[in-house]
Amino acid sequence: MTSVNEIRSSFVDYFARNGHEKVASSPLVPRNDPTLMFVNSGMVQFKNVFTGVEKRDYKRATSAQKSVRAGGKHNDLDNVGFTARHHTFFEMLGNFSFGDYFKEQAIEYAWNLLTKEWGLPKDKLSATVYQDDDEAFALWKKIAGLPDDKIVRLGAKSNFWQMGDTGPCGPCSEIFFDHGDKYWGGPPGSPEEDGDRFVEIWNLVFMQFEQAPDGSRTALPKPSVDTGMGLERVAAVMQGTNNNYEIDLFKTLIASTMQATGFHGDPTTPSLRVIADHMRSMSFLIAEGVLPSNEGRGYVLRRIMRRAMRHATLLGADKPVIHRIVPTLVREMGQAYPELVQGEAMIEETIRLEENRFLKTLSRGLLLLDEATTGLGQGDMLEGVTAFKLFDTYGFPLDLTQDALRMRGINVDLTGFEDAMARQRAEARKSWSGSGEAGEDKVWFAVADKVGPTEFLGYETEVAEGVVTALVRNGAMVETLAAGEEGFVVLNQTPFYGESGGQVGDTGTIAGEGVAADVTDTVKNHGIFGHKVTVRQGTLALGAPLGLVVDHGRRSAIRANHSATHLLHEALRIVLGDHVAQKGSMVSADRLRFDFVHTKPISPQEMAQIEDIANDIVLQNSRVETRLMGVEEAKQSGARALFGEKYGDEVRVVSMGDPTGNAVGWSVELCGGTHVGRTGDIGLISVLGESGVAAGVRRIEALTARGARHHARTNSNLVASVADVLHTQPVEVLNRIAALQDQLKKSERALTDARQKLAMGGGADSPSAETETINGVNFVGRIVDGLQPKDLRGLVDQTKKQVGSGVVVVIGLTEDGKAGLAVGVTEDLVGKVSAVDLVRAGSAALGGQGGGGRPDMAQAGGPDGSKASEAMAAIRSAL
Ligand code: ALA
Repeated sequence: MTSVNEIRSSFVDYFARNGHEKVASSPLVPRNDPTLMFVNSGMVQFKNVFTGVEKRDYKRATSAQKSVRAGGKHNDLDNVGFTARHHTFFEMLGNFSFGDYFKEQAIEYAWNLLTKEWGLPKDKLSATVYQDDDEAFALWKKIAGLPDDKIVRLGAKSNFWQMGDTGPCGPCSEIFFDHGDKYWGGPPGSPEEDGDRFVEIWNLVFMQFEQAPDGSRTALPKPSVDTGMGLERVAAVMQGTNNNYEIDLFKTLIASTMQATGFHGDPTTPSLRVIADHMRSMSFLIAEGVLPSNEGRGYVLRRIMRRAMRHATLLGADKPVIHRIVPTLVREMGQAYPELVQGEAMIEETIRLEENRFLKTLSRGLLLLDEATTGLGQGDMLEGVTAFKLFDTYGFPLDLTQDALRMRGINVDLTGFEDAMARQRAEARKSWSGSGEAGEDKVWFAVADKVGPTEFLGYETEVAEGVVTALVRNGAMVETLAAGEEGFVVLNQTPFYGESGGQVGDTGTIAGEGVAADVTDTVKNHGIFGHKVTVRQGTLALGAPLGLVVDHGRRSAIRANHSATHLLHEALRIVLGDHVAQKGSMVSADRLRFDFVHTKPISPQEMAQIEDIANDIVLQNSRVETRLMGVEEAKQSGARALFGEKYGDEVRVVSMGDPTGNAVGWSVELCGGTHVGRTGDIGLISVLGESGVAAGVRRIEALTARGARHHARTNSNLVASVADVLHTQPVEVLNRIAALQDQLKKSERALTDARQKLAMGGGADSPSAETETINGVNFVGRIVDGLQPKDLRGLVDQTKKQVGSGVVVVIGLTEDGKAGLAVGVTEDLVGKVSAVDLVRAGSAALGGQGGGGRPDMAQAGGPDGSKASEAMAAIRSAL
């Protein structure tokens, strides 16, 4: 028997041998198409190569592409489990020609692989062609030798393939396998074509056109080829069954499901098939970072998960069991898709948490459903309000309620359901209190009402496409934004982070056909992401698909700063104590700021310790993990949350650091921000300092990565320049400065001495030359430049000694133009002359307040040094 894994390799190896580039599967969440929910066929990743917008260095490619059809144009969710061939997740094998070979070679490759390589019997194979494609008809005759009755012409419904409402498309030719007359069914085009006997195994699309949103078609630059073969179907053919659920891979998954659920009945029971199928889609989506939520892709994932969980309970399970099947899936498919191996623990835990959450409300919800439907029977209708309550309160997606009632033939009143949903939205709007910027807020409410929340893709990617759903200018919705205008663009999905939780909004560029704009900020209001733009070129209009590119360098810096904030938070708590609670934070591209409860300044020793602890986690380079869980659950798990902050039902929990070597989060916080992949991406955390911002609240600021590096360089450059100026080595700088300070002190002292000597008459001991006699009293009066007030008194005392008996006055003029004044009276004259009176007389002339002292020594000062001579004259006359 040829296994699924062997068939996959055999297909791509065959085309590689024939000059095709082996291309890995693209992610399920399309990076290049805003209109697609999930990648649903092999050609999606090559869409722009077909239209000529994107160039690659090969013209032929082959791939095994993971695909999900559970939302959007191709949606098979409701059929899965009840038919032989529907899946939410499947693999598409394909070969592609980008303007290289066309119909003839495509048919030849296909025929040779099926009949020569794989040895399928020719008489079991037949083909269909587009109704007027005579060329393909003739080629099937020539290459495969198929008789006319085995080449069926069909219309556009089955033989014209398009990816979605827009994009590359063209006529196609399908290859069918006849499973034999033990199955009911007829060839394609016959009334019995829906039976299980004739099964399409390969679709060859002759890509020729590109469809525009208005339905018009233009020719592709060159005719191309896109083919798709369902791996599960062809495996069934090669393993001699006509049911996909009986191939090796599904047999293993179903056995594992039986073990997990404890169900030992019929292995073809639909619930087993539902779970086996849904296991694959949920695990692959979670591995890519999609998490269950209530909007967009996350909601489709949740519906898939809850549908599987409900079927587990139908099989008798009353505990979480689905997550136990993950290891089997990883074993089966991990080699071809390493993301499963890498994400195994995360996938298991995400499923287990969702199971816990759902099981908690499932029985209560089912009880409510039972009560609401007693007395209802075949053809009756369940009230829309009840279905809404089940959705809103118990987390039953609408299709799950429908699924539960299907067996009893009861329908759900869908209009009533929609009405109840609209009423709830209106209530929410009324009860919302507003933040003050009424005009701005009102418009975001209107936008939210009209277009619904924006899907955020920025945890996984920085580049994506989106469709414009609303434009806002001057607080009002508008139809267009023209070149030069400023405003806000809203898209159905975006990789731009909208400012929230202390993290600034992203910047970058958006561009589409003939239009380009710079995004200078992104805001988030009521689930709507508003991209603040200035239109550089062209006109932005509603409905336009745009390429969105986040400024990568800036976002990387923001990531590093945000993750560093978490590490510092934990380090602060360890060093300062458990009372450290977050009071606020600001994360931008160039720095981070963190405010927290703590009553006294952080000492330099504490700060060094905090910095070291946080940086040791950086050096570990351990993985940063994000999970989604209920708020209560998250708080119980020890995650740190912002006290008083309002969280939704579900929160992201970011864990990082791994000091023990176990997969335990060292820092665990509730956080919606964007983070580094591994702690090593932070590079380095450098704390700039701390300060007090309010009573009991301290703030630290820090730099990381490039910012920290530049800061360190600036500082060492500064030390080097200082050393240079001081003619020494950087390590000697401190000693050198201490020596200089010492030297400076000595010089100052020497200078004062010299000035005093100079003031006392060039060092002569006798001042007699200057002594005059006023009113029979000896008088020495001097005005000295550059003498500080503190030096006046010493000079007066010395002069008094020299004079023996008399009055000494010294006025010192400082460099800033002020004056100090000191008057001394020798002992023998005290009682006759008062130093205090004389000082007052002088100080008045200097513009001072009068001064003071004792009768033998008084001092004063004044702002006006230019009046020194007047002051001296005033003292003379007072004497
Ligand atoms: N893109 C084609 C399909 O999905 C091959 O059928």
